[in-house]
Amino acid sequence: MTVVDEIKARLDIVDIVSENVKLKKSGKNYTGFCPFHSNTKTPAFVVFSDTGTWRCFGQCNEGGDIFHYVMKREGWDFSQTLKYLADRAGIQLQPITPEQHAADEAGERQRQILDDAVIFYRHQLANTPDGQRALEYLHQRNLKGEILDAFGIGYAPKSNDALLNHFKSRGFSEEELVDSGLESRRDSGQVFDRFRNRIMFPIRTADGKMAGFGGRILNPDDVPKFMNSPQTLVFDKGKLLYGLSAARKAIRTQNQVVIVEGYLDVLALHQAGFTNVVSPMGTALTEEQLRLVKGLTRRIVLALDPDSAGMNATLRGLDAARQALDHATDRVFDVRGLMHQEARLEADIRVASLPDGMDPDEVVARNPDDWSRIVSEAKHIITHVVDTLVSGQDLEDPRVKSEIAAQVIPLIEDVANPIERDSYRQQLARIIKVDERALASAHKKTPTPRRRRQPDLKKDNLPPTVSTIKSSPDLPLEKYIVGSLLRDPELIYRLDRELQMNGLRTIAEDDFPDADFRNILGVIHKAIDQVQIPPLEYIANNLPEILMILADEIRLTADQSDFQKTRHVEELHRAVIRLRKNIVNESLLQLRFLQEETPAETNWRDLPYQSLVIQYSQLRDKLDRALDNIRIHEA
Ligand code: GTP
Ligand code: MN
Repeated sequence: MTVVDEIKARLDIVDIVSENVKLKKSGKNYTGFCPFHSNTKTPAFVVFSDTGTWRCFGQCNEGGDIFHYVMKREGWDFSQTLKYLADRAGIQLQPITPEQHAADEAGERQRQILDDAVIFYRHQLANTPDGQRALEYLHQRNLKGEILDAFGIGYAPKSNDALLNHFKSRGFSEEELVDSGLESRRDSGQVFDRFRNRIMFPIRTADGKMAGFGGRILNPDDVPKFMNSPQTLVFDKGKLLYGLSAARKAIRTQNQVVIVEGYLDVLALHQAGFTNVVSPMGTALTEEQLRLVKGLTRRIVLALDPDSAGMNATLRGLDAARQALDHATDRVFDVRGLMHQEARLEADIRVASLPDGMDPDEVVARNPDDWSRIVSEAKHIITHVVDTLVSGQDLEDPRVKSEIAAQVIPLIEDVANPIERDSYRQQLARIIKVDERALASAHKKTPTPRRRRQPDLKKDNLPPTVSTIKSSPDLPLEKYIVGSLLRDPELIYRLDRELQMNGLRTIAEDDFPDADFRNILGVIHKAIDQVQIPPLEYIANNLPEILMILADEIRLTADQSDFQKTRHVEELHRAVIRLRKNIVNESLLQLRFLQEETPAETNWRDLPYQSLVIQYSQLRDKLDRALDNIRIHEA
């Protein structure tokens, strides 16, 4: 039995899940509201106590075992989760392998070297003439001795071998100095000090262990401006945040972290009393970095340069941004990536706008209150993006509107919480003065509300038959129906009458899973509900810009379909029923899949889906009868 199996055997998944979900017994299993997506209507979250698994049959459509659950809930990686669950299960984890042990020892040795190097560099700063010049520079940047001590700031001398000799005389080998990242090796095999004539910033892990250094030039002609330790056993710049060990406590107590761009900004802000500030190390924020702070707070404020961080550039496209950033190609503020991370981390990511051309250290030097204000006025990342895009644009220009919508809607779709998502959509609609429902459709991949309400199963999990039933990507039925009505809006009267005579309800927007079609039908309905303007003219005047192209396209589709004039209403009638049947069948398939997933002994009636199955089956029978009616009618 593996440790994992042992843990699963000892712990009850129901206990673990019950810590944050109110579960109700339902047959052998338990149901509740899914903790990973907001929903208070259907308890779509099921815990199967027999198999020790869980699944959200709602929006998440995700499931797994107890490990997966804890990882997702806590945002931990596997090894963290293993430690935690082993501890709870009262299991002693196996001693680490000899290889791991060796790596740990080597890492420990490297940390010792780095600790020693901090002392060496600080000594150079305090006690040498060149160090004195570095210190003067730091004073000139308003940094006082106290903060320099607290962060262990030092100076790497203008020499190829000062550090090398220091360590050699203390019995360290060239090999291990190279491995620690403090020495570099030439092709010739010769070893030399990596950092020369630089201000040295020790970089530590969240719990204060040395990991590496960042070094800033003193001589403005030197390149690069900043140089970090290379990747080593203990230094991985994507997994560390500068200043985190010093900021931890404040981040937790203030329940907020502020992320700035530069080492010097971190120092200046900490010195001014803003101790919840950290920075990445010249790279775009990584998910691992956000995870580091997630254990402390979910409220993250980004105070990055408006220009150099690639904010504006990102909005013009990531490729352009990469080209615009000459010195560090990975320094890109990737809004989309952050949104995904926000959703995954359930974080609240906001963006603080710095005054043009000012770094945080300059802001705080001018007036510390300005910093507080800037941080407190940070806007949600989407609001920030919208404001940035909108500024200086002519919002009356339909092209501008649709460009902005096209950029922002994908971001809005990534917002995890549907209520927030709607509110951002409304906000965007208001700002660019577009009908909100039109916005919902501007982005083609927008999952429609109808689909969202149902279990949205991943394609791969579905039984093979589903592809034959799912409407094809180009939606021929929808195109045919809406296209016909676009050409001749008054057909709706006749179509509705036929439907009603057949015992069915009239055509409605929610017949269409795709929001574009809903919106176009909405305009058609309005067109025939008014009397002032001819319907076709009304449609032309009132169709939202973003739907124009689609409308033309589907009108064409309808034109090309070889319908016979006399049969047209009948054809439409049949198409509407088929469309409705497709949707019902799709839902039934999904429900059947749920049924198969459920252990056999489960009393199916206890699950919330049973009544849906009955409803859908009845509806399908009704639609079948309605189709038959048309055939009889024709015969
Ligand atoms: P000052 O210019 O002295 O105020 O420093 P700063 O920290 O404000 O620097 P800057 O705004 O130029 O850059 C911000 C951060 O980006 C730095 O702290 C570094 O982490 C990183 N960075 C800037 N230039 C480079 C570079 O050439 N190489 C690397 N690796 N990182 C850089
Ligand atoms: Mn700066």
